[in-house]
Amino acid sequence: MPCTPPTAWMNSRSELAAGRAELDAISAAGRQFLGTRHAILGGAMSWLSERHLVAATSNSGAFGVIATGSLSPGELRAEVKATFARTDAPFGVNVIIMHPELDALLQVCIDEGVGHVVLAGGMVPRAATDRLKQAGVKSIAFAPTLPVARKLMRQGVDAFIIEGMEAGGHTGPVATSVLCQEILPHLSDVPVFVGGGIGRGDAIALYMGMGAAGCQIGTRFVCASESIAHENFKKAFYHAKARDAQLSVQLDPDFPVIPVRALANKATEQFFAAQRDAIARYRAGELDQKEAQLVIERFWAGSLRRAVIDGDVEHGSLMAGQSVGMVEREQSVAEIVDELMDQAAAALAGRINRLSTG
Ligand SMILES: Cc1cc2nc3c(=O)[nH]c(=O)nc-3n(C[C@H](O)[C@H](O)[C@H](O)COP(=O)(O)O)c2cc1C
Repeated sequence: MPCTPPTAWMNSRSELAAGRAELDAISAAGRQFLGTRHAILGGAMSWLSERHLVAATSNSGAFGVIATGSLSPGELRAEVKATFARTDAPFGVNVIIMHPELDALLQVCIDEGVGHVVLAGGMVPRAATDRLKQAGVKSIAFAPTLPVARKLMRQGVDAFIIEGMEAGGHTGPVATSVLCQEILPHLSDVPVFVGGGIGRGDAIALYMGMGAAGCQIGTRFVCASESIAHENFKKAFYHAKARDAQLSVQLDPDFPVIPVRALANKATEQFFAAQRDAIARYRAGELDQKEAQLVIERFWAGSLRRAVIDGDVEHGSLMAGQSVGMVEREQSVAEIVDELMDQAAAALAGRINRLSTG
């Protein structure tokens, strides 16, 4: 058995304790805002972030978020009730603001006593933030730039998520590290959570050291044992490397494509062909521009469900962030969260150690 000198052992133990204390200190505002043990949001993922994964996330001490996606208000109500039945810890709901029944979805959150609503998918309407504020529900919005964040802050948004292009699913054009430098130093009045490309606790320590209140993580939780993702979907994640999580490519500037990061598969190739075909038919006068755009937009309809639930990983969408290379096996949500927190504390301990001996 290797012999560890007692002083070194004591030092590493005390350093780790200092790292944990530092993590507690820098995450205090985020934890207080969420009402959780850890300042970690489980990023809402359509089809995946339902009662089981969300309750497991909240029970682990992090903050689970239900993905409304295309759920109807009735379906959301059932999901919220079922999640409350599985956890006493706080959780939130993510609503896409283009949802045709946005008002009714917000009303469900208010009626059911959801404490936090994440407003995703575009510029947040004032009516939504006013409504949530009046009901005492905290609103969290995405901030793609500093001016947008400032505007939304004046509008009454309580906290922000800034998410870089490394993230899985719909994503923006700027890297997480750059967004953090552009936004974090100038937005200290409200909690700002950072997401996109976070696979280890070291990155959590880094972004929180830069002033983030906490982090939002999606990809790392896809293969959790509590995740209902089809085994084929999980296997695709275990085998994938960072470079396999690619952005959807737009062929023609006249036919915009919303950038989505997903693992490349047969559907990716078919999407090229579908775009080429629609554009050719537009040029031949068979379709007008609107019709051709609609053909392109509809290509991915239902495709995430096809992959996540049905397990068709060739023809469905395998939305994944670049941190997918760090997903190696099935673990419980609690194991993942503990691992991330241990890594964050160790990274902070190392920093404290370097500062004190340097
Ligand atoms: C499979 C999948 C589905 C997603 N669905 C949604 C969604 O419905 N709404 C949303 O706001 N974000 C969605 N996201 C983004 C996540 O909420 C989260 O912000 C992102 O995964 C964080 O970056 P990461 O993947 O690098 O951890 C999705 C991400 C993935 C991987």
